[in-house]
Amino acid sequence: MTADRFVPTPEDRFSFGIWTVGWQGADVFGSAVRPPMPAERAVRKLAELGAYGVNFHDNDVFGFAAGEAERDERVAAFRKALAETGLVVTTATTNLFSHPVFKDGGFTANDRDVRRFALAKVMRNLDLAAELGAQTYVFWGGRDGAESGAAKDIRAALDRLREAFDILTGYVLDQGYGLRFAIEPKPNEPRGDILLPTAGHALAFINSLARPELVGLNPEVGHEEMSGLNYAHGIAQALWHGKLFHIDLNGQNGPRYDQDLRFGAGNARGAFWVVDTLEAGGYDGPVHFDYKPPRTEDDDGVWASAAACMRNYLILRAKVRAFRADPDVTEAVRAARVDQLARPTLADGESWRDIRGFVPDADELGRQGMAFERLDQLALEYLYGVR
Ligand code: GCO
Ligand code: MN
Ligand code: MN
Repeated sequence: MTADRFVPTPEDRFSFGIWTVGWQGADVFGSAVRPPMPAERAVRKLAELGAYGVNFHDNDVFGFAAGEAERDERVAAFRKALAETGLVVTTATTNLFSHPVFKDGGFTANDRDVRRFALAKVMRNLDLAAELGAQTYVFWGGRDGAESGAAKDIRAALDRLREAFDILTGYVLDQGYGLRFAIEPKPNEPRGDILLPTAGHALAFINSLARPELVGLNPEVGHEEMSGLNYAHGIAQALWHGKLFHIDLNGQNGPRYDQDLRFGAGNARGAFWVVDTLEAGGYDGPVHFDYKPPRTEDDDGVWASAAACMRNYLILRAKVRAFRADPDVTEAVRAARVDQLARPTLADGESWRDIRGFVPDADELGRQGMAFERLDQLALEYLYGVR
């Protein structure tokens, strides 16, 4: 028997949101199917499975209504599990969506008191995140949006969103925290339309901030694919801008509700290119999974799906590496003229003057095939397991 090549180790830097395996399965049509999971249990089980780190919302560790004593007790249990397992807190975030107070959003709620409370709640959890050693703080504005037209002044909402980021970057600088912020775009759900719906919208928004260097992206596979977008292209562009601060890997089957499937399920071909893009380099954060074990699963199914996220990443990583190392692929890449794209269009010292009158043999160039199909088929054959 050969050794299993797809067993995760902490060196792989896999991390999970505490809320992923802890999801009880309540949805719009049905109630919870699994009991609540204390954060410390999630930590211990994830460590057993070979994970490296975790990410948490404040209310994944202690309830919204917890008093000081209860909060301290819950945080202590979480810390103890982290210390005993060696799991690292890579990332943290704030629940600004579950409690009814956030029904119209956190940072962009029309009601000013709600916005002030949302900022206070974030600052409180930034303190805990910094204390636990997190390096990234995620902002998913799931309730920052609208279902109707006149009720939300989008330009005013963007002013308030910018104000919130400027206040909070000011806060981490004043406190001397080393945290960077990562915005997680999503087009809709739970709001009919959410602000900063795609990676592109968020990148443009970041440029309007007082401290843009502290703010990047946390793109999620399913969220970009809900808009019909190519996630691998999205993270490639985020890397190109130096803005891929974090990732939420999961699975999705095209534009529909947010499926949050385990990584590698759903659009498997897309997942291959996601791993290829990450393997090409430039991203140094944790390989983080944000998925929901389906409602059909019991406790065993929860852990089977968490293990499968990591296993699928490792399987795809092996396939991607084999694909890139294959001499037939090297030849097909060359035939597709991929190397030419890396060459600047103008030579050193040239200006537009040198090409203003350039006339190639357009008919001949037009006759030449690009040989992309052969190259893509090689990738698919790795994915399908026949190479
Ligand atoms: C979703 C989102 C959320 C956020 C998380 C961080 O599925 O809509 O991924 O899970 O990532 O709650 O705030
Ligand atoms: Mn999602
Ligand atoms: Mn997410």
